[in-house]
Amino acid sequence: MAEQGRHDDAWWRTAVIYQVYVRSFADADGDGTGDLAGVRARLPYLRDLGVDALWFTPWYRSPMADGGYDVADYRTIDPAFGTLAEAERLVQDALALGIRTIVDVVPNHVSDQHPWFQAALAAGPGSPERERFWFHPGRGPQGDEMPTRWESSFAGPTWTRTTGPDGAPGEWYLHLFTPEQPDLNWDHPEVRAEHEDILRFWFDRGVAGIRIDSAALLVKDPALPEVPDRPGPGEHPHMDRDALHDVYRSWRRVADAYDPPRVLVGEVWLADAARFAQYLRPDEMHTAFNFDFMARPWDAKELRESVETTLEAHRSVDAPATWVLSNHDVTRPVTRYGRADSSFDFAAKRFGTPTDLAVGRRRARAAAVLTAALPGCLYVYQGDELGLPEVEDLPLDRLQDPMHFRSGGVDPGRDGCRVPLPWSGDAPPYGFSPTAREPWLPQPRDWADLTAEHQAQDPGSMLSLYRTLLALRRDDPDLRTGALRWLDADAHDGVLAFMRGDGLACVVNLSPAPVPLPAHDAVLVASGELVDGLLPTDTAVWLRLPAAPAATSRPTPTPPE
Ligand code: NOJ
Repeated sequence: MAEQGRHDDAWWRTAVIYQVYVRSFADADGDGTGDLAGVRARLPYLRDLGVDALWFTPWYRSPMADGGYDVADYRTIDPAFGTLAEAERLVQDALALGIRTIVDVVPNHVSDQHPWFQAALAAGPGSPERERFWFHPGRGPQGDEMPTRWESSFAGPTWTRTTGPDGAPGEWYLHLFTPEQPDLNWDHPEVRAEHEDILRFWFDRGVAGIRIDSAALLVKDPALPEVPDRPGPGEHPHMDRDALHDVYRSWRRVADAYDPPRVLVGEVWLADAARFAQYLRPDEMHTAFNFDFMARPWDAKELRESVETTLEAHRSVDAPATWVLSNHDVTRPVTRYGRADSSFDFAAKRFGTPTDLAVGRRRARAAAVLTAALPGCLYVYQGDELGLPEVEDLPLDRLQDPMHFRSGGVDPGRDGCRVPLPWSGDAPPYGFSPTAREPWLPQPRDWADLTAEHQAQDPGSMLSLYRTLLALRRDDPDLRTGALRWLDADAHDGVLAFMRGDGLACVVNLSPAPVPLPAHDAVLVASGELVDGLLPTDTAVWLRLPAAPAATSRPTPTPPE
């Protein structure tokens, strides 16, 4: 299928990809939930922001037990969001503006309402229908102990016991997430064939690629052993198993059969950079999310180490790195960077963790300047371009996230980063809906200054900063393809400084005092005002450096990274 995107087939190596959490982006029909018509109406905003592609979180029919990551039918759109015809129009309308589409595929599990799971429950033990999942008898004389003690990513057990038609307890089934998300058995040929068909279904509709949910979890050890204390590479019974790579090699063949080839983006949470890189070998995924960088605290040494490890790991497989500050699962940067501990860790999330939003905002601006200067792909989660904070005081009776409920109410959950966007006006729903109806999650009363309309008028706003960064990044050959070279041997002084190509330098000051800048011809963009020519704390700049003859005044770069 012919496409009119801005760049060539390798667009995914340098793209800016904007994550649309459909439920919270824009509501066109006034029911308080975002929808596809709302996204279509806001495409000009996304064009003006300067993004290359949109990644839509799952828009398929779903009971929404986990915000749509519990899919009941991968080929229909949830009625709350619209219709398949609208999705097709949205893909084409975006493409007409030079914006590609990535859809979210959820292969590890389905909804418990999916016809396959319903059929498996009805068919009973030993049936072929149950083979597509992980049904298993319990342990112990009564079968009332779970088959394994594996821990769920959402706290609590990973097995739920079924009840037979006569009310008697039956087999258990595996769910690494909620009981409403039964895990598929990826050793089953029908599971593999079905997903390749789902890929083709969306690729045939012109989508440019897929984001693969929980990509390192699909394959399980059929012997169902317990998780060892220190699993070696490939030894974990339900994570990063070697057989996964066959799945992605065959998906790559499906994607490569298209013209232009479609792109695979993995959600791969792995601490080991070398194991992570294996998913990006030339015949597997194109890119994967870089959660190591996202989880690091606002600390120059930490960030530099992450950038170096990331680039090194990606270089080994000739894949582009990705830079991610947040997404629909994690704390918004403005809030996180204002905390005493600004790293991100799911297990550490608690209600009432103090934050200084002024500090957080300054750092989030500097982080945007930093990440937009790094080589590879940049992901922007909706609302980060508006500098939205995490909403930490949602009424408890409005929370929806199973992570909150399954933690016994200890974990605040992920609703605080999913609050509907403020578009215009000075009171909720801030133009999110055409009616005064309160959105599915309530918005704070003090967001009038954060609306897209308000920020578009203000050259000092976060939105203006993002627009400037993305425009410069698109047009500047150094930023698109120039190699990264550090200007200092290390980050001991709390400063990150590096070149892209020969002409552009990015300097970020994470130290407590202002620092001088290298000699430069121009400041292209700054996250905050310079003071007497110095770069203040928590501020970042892009500099145009003098051309080659003036190189004596330029700091000596360390060898190419
Ligand atoms: C990762 C998704 O980003 C998250 O939102 C979801 O809850 C889990 N995978 C399970 O699908």
